[in-house]
Amino acid sequence: MDLVEKFFLVCLLIFFAAIHETRGDAMVTGTVFCDQCKDGERSLFDYPLYGVKVKVNCADRNGQITMSREETTNWFGNYAMKFDGTPDLSNCYAQVSSTGQGSSDCTAAAGSAQQLRLMFRMFDMEMYAVDSLLSEPANPMSFCPRSTNPVPAPVTPVTPSNPPPVQVPVTPVSPTPRVRVPPVPQLPPLPPLPSLPPMPPMPFLEASACTHENWTTPEYKCYWRAVNPDSKVALAFGLYAARRYGNDMTLWQGLQGRGDPYRTLLREGITAYLNSFNSLQFPYHTVGVVQHMNWALMGSPSSVLLTALRFKRANSGSTSNGLVTCKFTPCK
Ligand SMILES: *[C@@H]1O[C@H](CO)[C@@H](O)[C@H](O)[C@H]1NC(C)=O
Repeated sequence: MDLVEKFFLVCLLIFFAAIHETRGDAMVTGTVFCDQCKDGERSLFDYPLYGVKVKVNCADRNGQITMSREETTNWFGNYAMKFDGTPDLSNCYAQVSSTGQGSSDCTAAAGSAQQLRLMFRMFDMEMYAVDSLLSEPANPMSFCPRSTNPVPAPVTPVTPSNPPPVQVPVTPVSPTPRVRVPPVPQLPPLPPLPSLPPMPPMPFLEASACTHENWTTPEYKCYWRAVNPDSKVALAFGLYAARRYGNDMTLWQGLQGRGDPYRTLLREGITAYLNSFNSLQFPYHTVGVVQHMNWALMGSPSSVLLTALRFKRANSGSTSNGLVTCKFTPCK
């Protein structure tokens, strides 16, 4: 079994264990990274941490802990937790509680606790995402820029429509040329889902993986429920995607791409993004699709191709437990 298969298996196990036949569950997912430069933010060399314990605490108005849950990260640094019923978890916080069994030097929990963010609520299911949690080595790695002052987190515009920062005249911006790792863009805000379109026939809990051909078939248009075909790629995937694919590319156009690895990555990434909204049992959750897409775009062409193939594999429904098919039925 290679790593990807193991990852799929773990995801499936988590979801099968989490879901059974019951409804009314809340899922919380997120990722822990090693902050190698101790700069308090995600940067290029930071990598996902395996075997880290993450604790989610919920407190009432008086600060009394009312609910608490702990989970360990998998090979990809991801964790997933299930809460019974549909409790309101928007006042809960996730934090690295122990970095114990991981084999890395990254053993000091760092950064503040992150508040849970509701991604969507549907069929009595709730899905919460947590911004990246960080853990640090005792000392910054040697390749990190040396700085005695903590580097303030730069504000990275997510939407390309943001106005450029106002230029302060005269002052040279950076006097010493230092190796500065570009910050990873903040994940773009997920589209709000206040009023959902009429429900397509497929239950959200059913395992389903659909190809880009399925998603561009007009009879299945009602399955586009979280985003619409005219949504911009740049808005869904953030700054790196905007740089690569331009600001005007729509999801629908991106699904037609073929030929070079970058277009294949976009096509399969969008397909995975749509699948993640459509089936809770899809191996990638939505935030994970966006993250993997960004890492690939920041990496080499071979990482682009590799990520594209992984997405494609998930979209075609192959898992180590067998084949998952596309459960679309024509919309009325
Ligand atoms: C989805 O597309 C694949 C080919 O990409 C096809 O074999 C399959 O029948 C399609 N499924 C549905 C439900 O249309």
